[in-house]
Amino acid sequence: MSTPPQSQQRRVELNIAPRDSDDDGADEPLVAGTMGPTGRPRRHIPEPSLLDRHGPARILAICNQKGGVGKTTSTINLGAALTEYGRRVLLVDFDPQGALSVGLGIPPHDLERTIYNVLIEGSVGVRDVVMRTCVDDLDLLPSNIDLSAAEVQLVSEVGREHSLMRTLRPVLDDYDFILVDCQPSLGLLTVNALTAADGVLIPLECEYFSLRGVALLIDTIDKVRDRLNPKLGITGILATMFDPRTLHSREVMARVVEAFGDTVFDTAINRTVRFPETTVAGEPITTWAPRSAGAKAYRQLAREVIAR
Ligand SMILES: Nc1ncnc2c1ncn2[C@@H]1O[C@H](COP(=O)(O)OP(=O)(O)OP(=O)(O)O)[C@@H](O)[C@H]1O
Ligand SMILES: [Mg+2]
Repeated sequence: MSTPPQSQQRRVELNIAPRDSDDDGADEPLVAGTMGPTGRPRRHIPEPSLLDRHGPARILAICNQKGGVGKTTSTINLGAALTEYGRRVLLVDFDPQGALSVGLGIPPHDLERTIYNVLIEGSVGVRDVVMRTCVDDLDLLPSNIDLSAAEVQLVSEVGREHSLMRTLRPVLDDYDFILVDCQPSLGLLTVNALTAADGVLIPLECEYFSLRGVALLIDTIDKVRDRLNPKLGITGILATMFDPRTLHSREVMARVVEAFGDTVFDTAINRTVRFPETTVAGEPITTWAPRSAGAKAYRQLAREVIAR
């Protein structure tokens, strides 16, 4: 008898079945000019081109010092959606909590070597630590609580802000995108992510207090661009946990669009229990519930990211 694939085995163990109950029908293309969730007409997004070779990678830092806004969820699901367009993707868990690793079904506390060892020990190479995930062309550089020590240990290093860039340089040509899941702080690890990045993707929860602190984040991005990384730009602002049924959510969205204009992606991610479920399942929504509205939204976001 053949053994079921790993993801199915996990479903059996967890005794939860993937459901596509929020399937919103056919995978219809979103038509440019029709009204989108941001309250603006959708812009035209070209069909992603096919690649005949891979690399060098565009590095995106997924960053917001506010906790629980969907950074890790967006890193996993945007990464998985990008692979569906033929892109090779490396996800970097740059949070000592290890939530990105957990979300991909990898218990971080059992790992002997993580990104911490590559950052701190010259003898460990990045390729020694990169892991395959349950999704083809989606690799992971895992982390665990050890990484919290790096923040202290790096302080006395020469070129401490460039440590992540040095870590990633050997694999830049292996990938089309490297997504760095930042921790909820603007400390040295996040500054390292911004120093390595070509762009920042800022997930913003559609809640009243979500705009508080964004000015500080943008100020930090400006400083890193001035002092450390002139190529750094804001790739886009992603509205998350959007509930189109509530006036509150729509009002917050209107304020976000008023404040940030075209930087706001046309795609918004709706609030749905489906995302916490995928964390338990240990796989992206694009494979867990491929026809769900959440999976479709992250595919649409992937198209926008490729086009920007
Ligand atoms: N669109 C969504 N709808 C409902 N729940 C969501 C959504 N996106 C994420 N979540 C859930 O909200 C919680 C926080 O999400 P996530 O871990 O992605 O945020 P984060 O910004 O990475 O948090 P932290 O700052 O702690 O790293 C998780 O339980 C996740 O499953
Ligand atoms: Mg996180």
